[in-house]
Amino acid sequence: MPIHFNDDIESQDMNIDGTPTRTLRTQPERGVIDIIDQTRLPHALHWVRVATLDEAAHAIRAMQVRGAPLIGVTAAYGLAIALASDSSDARLQHAAALLRSTRPTAVNLHWALARMENALSTVPTDERRAAAWAEAAAIAEEDVAQNAAIGRHGLGLFRQIARHQGTALNIMTHCNAGWLATVDWGTALSPVYAAYDAGLPVHVWVSETRPRNQGLLTAWELAQHGVPHTLIADNAAGILLRQGKVDAVIVGADRIAANGDVANKVGTYLKALACADNNIPFYVAAPRSTLDFACFDGAAIPIEERDGDEFRRVHGLDSRGVPSALSQLPDKEAVANPAFDVTPARLVTAIITERGVCPASREGLLGLYPEAKHG
Ligand code: MRU
Repeated sequence: MPIHFNDDIESQDMNIDGTPTRTLRTQPERGVIDIIDQTRLPHALHWVRVATLDEAAHAIRAMQVRGAPLIGVTAAYGLAIALASDSSDARLQHAAALLRSTRPTAVNLHWALARMENALSTVPTDERRAAAWAEAAAIAEEDVAQNAAIGRHGLGLFRQIARHQGTALNIMTHCNAGWLATVDWGTALSPVYAAYDAGLPVHVWVSETRPRNQGLLTAWELAQHGVPHTLIADNAAGILLRQGKVDAVIVGADRIAANGDVANKVGTYLKALACADNNIPFYVAAPRSTLDFACFDGAAIPIEERDGDEFRRVHGLDSRGVPSALSQLPDKEAVANPAFDVTPARLVTAIITERGVCPASREGLLGLYPEAKHG
């Protein structure tokens, strides 16, 4: 299905080498999905088959798939895969619990699994497998449509900023909240793609995002689409913001609390602080599945602490072009590796969702989602 960004722009799926591609390929009749192994990007594009519940849980935990919306969609398909030979209540609960335990911060995972369990609990067991594949597909299609809508709303904001200047729009982002982090289009990068496709001159500052270097994924997918961009070390963001080289920062989110506090990849908070100090808009783009109205504020958001080896080892290509890992620290060196941080709502200029743009506040979010007032 073509996605319409605005009246004059029409786009297909995002491209790899000019071929429209999504991050997941599904084969319900065979009970499997294929995913892009993001641990091997940007050095190699490698598809991996996920055919069991354990493989689905591993893919999420090991970050072969990553990014809040894609984690949720993969978990939904993981549940469908898990019901292949046993679709009993016990199997459903076991599979949901295992998938839920893979990563704590992105609420999309919990949202997708709750939606799957809700949809399936009243379905007779002999019809559950087909129903699970259908529900997972619905979640995936909604992700694509919602991200396209985020692109349209974000484009409106970018146009307003662009009107005030004659040069290319300079956008900064952190981590990867692009096509690779979702089924298609991305969240924070969807407005960037919409701007580029609409002919707005745009350039993206991409922060490396140590220690997992998701910025390299962002650079890779921007390059596939032809969007001009420049990679920077995370610590360079402050000087660029201070030098007036950035018109706006836009990031995704792993969980947005009811009061508008935003959990996103570690390092996001520092960018928001620097934006506030330099009067630069700081936008957060996320779909409904990232909003957690049950979470009072950011202090209640669980922050994932990942293995210190992610920090101790650096990955890349060796002098022969072969993927390799090097230790930059002795194994016994103490390291801390919090994967996310929380940006207080007061530092967020606005939240962009599929329903529109709102202030980062309880009132702002409920203005877009009035139905959430009643639980
Ligand atoms: O640890 P990751 O790579 O899964 O973290 C991803 C992020 O923090 C993204 O910014 C967030 O999930 C938004 S993705 C559209």
